[in-house]
Amino acid sequence: MSRRSWSRDAVIYQLYVRSFADSDGDGTGDLLGVTSRLDYLTDLGVDALWLTPFYRSPMADGGYDVADYRDVDPRFGTLADFDKLLMEAHARGLRVIIDVVPNHCSDQHVWFQAALTAAPGSPERQRFHFRLGRGEAGERPPNDWQSIFRGPAWTRLPDGDWYLHLFAPEQPDLNWDHPEVRAEFANVLRFWLDRGVDGIRIDVAHGLVKAPGLPDVGHQGTTLLVGDETPFFDQDGVHEIYREWRSILDSYEPERIAVAEAWLPNVYRTARYVRPDELHQAFNFEFLGAPWSAGAYRRVVDSSLEVMGSVGAPTTWVMSNHDVVRHVSRLAAGVGGAAGGARAASGVAAQADLALGLRRARAATLLMLPLPGSVYLYQGEELGLPEVFDLPDEARQDPVFVRSKGTELGRDGCRVPLPWSGSQPPYGFGPAGSVPWLPQPASWAESSVAAQSGVASSTLTLYRDALRLRRELVALGDGELRWLDQPGDEVLVFERPGRAGDPGVLCAVNLGSVAVPVAAATGPPLIASGPLTPDGLLPPDTAAWWTIR
Ligand code: NOJ
Repeated sequence: MSRRSWSRDAVIYQLYVRSFADSDGDGTGDLLGVTSRLDYLTDLGVDALWLTPFYRSPMADGGYDVADYRDVDPRFGTLADFDKLLMEAHARGLRVIIDVVPNHCSDQHVWFQAALTAAPGSPERQRFHFRLGRGEAGERPPNDWQSIFRGPAWTRLPDGDWYLHLFAPEQPDLNWDHPEVRAEFANVLRFWLDRGVDGIRIDVAHGLVKAPGLPDVGHQGTTLLVGDETPFFDQDGVHEIYREWRSILDSYEPERIAVAEAWLPNVYRTARYVRPDELHQAFNFEFLGAPWSAGAYRRVVDSSLEVMGSVGAPTTWVMSNHDVVRHVSRLAAGVGGAAGGARAASGVAAQADLALGLRRARAATLLMLPLPGSVYLYQGEELGLPEVFDLPDEARQDPVFVRSKGTELGRDGCRVPLPWSGSQPPYGFGPAGSVPWLPQPASWAESSVAAQSGVASSTLTLYRDALRLRRELVALGDGELRWLDQPGDEVLVFERPGRAGDPGVLCAVNLGSVAVPVAAATGPPLIASGPLTPDGLLPPDTAAWWTIR
């Protein structure tokens, strides 16, 4: 099959189902809620949706602990609701990508339940990583691996065996050396592809295969998202799995795609996941983690395009997701580094100037949207929502908060249910009087979709206009990006030549502290993230596009 894919230049909207729209008033977003808001997404101008897990789950990790990969959790609806969503999305020309979670399942999954009641050494335990402990009585974990959610990556059963969980104890890691595990996931893929999904997002795509013998890391711990070299991430064996999955995807018409979630040390390692016979895309977390600096963005853009291009894959661009501090707050604090670093800096971000963060976030949007490749938006960024740092402890549900004993806030602050309308919670997220699963800030009345719709200066209008222009004017996909001479060190200026007949777009972003002229720009901008100065200079923390003349 040709490598030219609809996904190469798509704008894909990440929908954290639990927090998008609640149709039945139980406080949790659901599939019918999504279906009821599809027109909002077509008006916004996105091409595809990525739905986070809605499978049967005890929700120990927000649904990334799957008890049944072939069914919808009653909280989120039914399989019939899913089919309706898919049909309605397709009727509007929206493609749908679902999340597949192959590294681990829930401890309530039938396989793990069988493993628990079976004896040590039994075939039921071989689908997971069960081991004897170290020490005279096996009282110490089998190796030194630490859970990404803090604490040891091993839990001991009353019968003495230990099992591996890179995440929460409720998420036992599957053993991908076991043929039944491979066969089961191939069938799960077919189950959803047969229903008509357009693609899959692969959770912890770099984690499935562990180094033989499960050797010690040799140093303590790891961070949530930064992939140093470890015996549990980025092992060569994962690529064989993705080659098999690619052949499954390619056996379907119309085209189905896969995107890898893999936090890796550098873009070269990431590119291995998107070689021609593997996955179509991988999230660009280096872009997400770049600090607010022209040099840093330019380096990430150049290296991403070059290295992804070297394997014939498109680059993706992403600023936020459900695992990181929302970028309004991150950019307000000026922190960069991988998302783990940004999270650690949340103390700083909580104190930061949100008006500054929003200006930068709006500018970053105009930097990101004209870049060649595909863009992932995280729900709520189009409303300019900041991270919510001051959730009450008792409301927090992220296992990171619980397992770090509250020393880390965790990820709930980027998962607060969306404000749609009205002057008080639930702001149209659910029916009046319903109580969202996380409390929404009082200040969100002015951020709601209704409050921003039709308001020229709103962030929602900026996204709608920029997405429309991106469709109309910018040469997408593999088009060329040409850097122009900079009027100052902290300014980025580039051209994206247009498609046949279109003039193309000039984009300038000022990441510095003084207003600058943009020499190549003529006339008023097509769109700007904030007002230019009266004499036409581009102010700090502002970006704009002009037609190329
Ligand atoms: C990455 C997901 O995005 C995150 O939310 C989840 O906690 C881990 N993988 C474990 O599944």
